[in-house]
Amino acid sequence: MDLKESINVNNIPAHVAIIMDGNGRWAKQHGEDRIFGHHEGVNSVREIVEACGEIGVKYLTLYAFSTENWNRPKDEVDALMELLVSTISLETPNLHKKGVKLAVIGDIHSLPPTCQKELQESIDLTAGNSKVTLILALSYSSKWEITEAVKKIGRDVEEGKIKSSAINSRLIQENLNTKKFPDPELMIRTSGEHRISNFLLWQLAYAEFYFTDVLWPDFRKDEFFKAIISYQNRERRFGKTSEQLRSN
Ligand code: IPE
Ligand code: IPE
Ligand code: MG
Repeated sequence: MDLKESINVNNIPAHVAIIMDGNGRWAKQHGEDRIFGHHEGVNSVREIVEACGEIGVKYLTLYAFSTENWNRPKDEVDALMELLVSTISLETPNLHKKGVKLAVIGDIHSLPPTCQKELQESIDLTAGNSKVTLILALSYSSKWEITEAVKKIGRDVEEGKIKSSAINSRLIQENLNTKKFPDPELMIRTSGEHRISNFLLWQLAYAEFYFTDVLWPDFRKDEFFKAIISYQNRERRFGKTSEQLRSN
C-alpha cells in the first residue's frame, strides 16, 4: 500500500523539526564536492515542504545553518550563503502559490546583507499565507537563543518591568525566537547521527525523535511519511502511565 495512505489523518503532528544532515557525505558518495550535495539537498526541501502541505503539517522547522557552521571552510560557507539567496529567490513564487508562509529563527543579522534582504522580501510576500509555516533556522543555535532570552529577561528585571518572581516557563518561551510557534511534536535527523547539535533544546523537551541513516538529499516524501507513521505508532505519555492514558 501507498505509504501516504497508511497515515492516520487524525494524528498529524502540527510541527515537525528536521536536522537536514548528510549533504557532504552524499556528495562524496557520488564523487562530487560538498557543495553539490547542498544543491541536491534543496530538492529534498522542496519535496518535504510539499509533503507537509499534503498531509496537514502546519509548521516545519528546518535546521539549515548552525552557529557552529560558521567554522566551516570559507568557500563552503560562502557557497551556502549564495545557495540560500538563489534558493529563496527561485522558490519564493512557488512557495507563495502553495500557501507557504516563510519565517526565520537565528542570528539573522549575522548573515550577509543580500541574504537578509532576500529573506525579508520572501517573508513580506508570504506573510498572509497560512497553509504551512516554513521556519528556517539560520545562524541558529539553541544556546545562543536561550542566552539572548535570559539577557532580555534580565534587562526587564533590572528596569523594573517585571519581578524575578514572575519568571516562569511561559515567560521564557515568550522570549525565544520561536515564541509564535507551538513546540515540535516530532524531530527528525537524517544521516545516521544521533545528536541534537544545539537545535531547539528547550522546544524539543517532549518531542518524539526519529533518526534515519538516509542522507538528506535522499530524504524524499516516502522517507518523510515513514517518519510520520513511526511517530503515530508511539505512545506519548508525558510522565503518566499507559493505564492512565487508556482510561481517559
Ligand atoms: C548538512 O549536511 C547541511 C549543513 C550543515 C549546512 P552536512 O554539510 O553537514 O553534510 P555531512 O554531515 O558533512 O555529510
Ligand atoms: C547540524 O549539522 C546543523 C545543520 C544541519 C544545519 P552538522 O553537520 O553541522 O552537525 P554536527 O557538527 O555533525 O553535529
Ligand atoms: Mg553534517
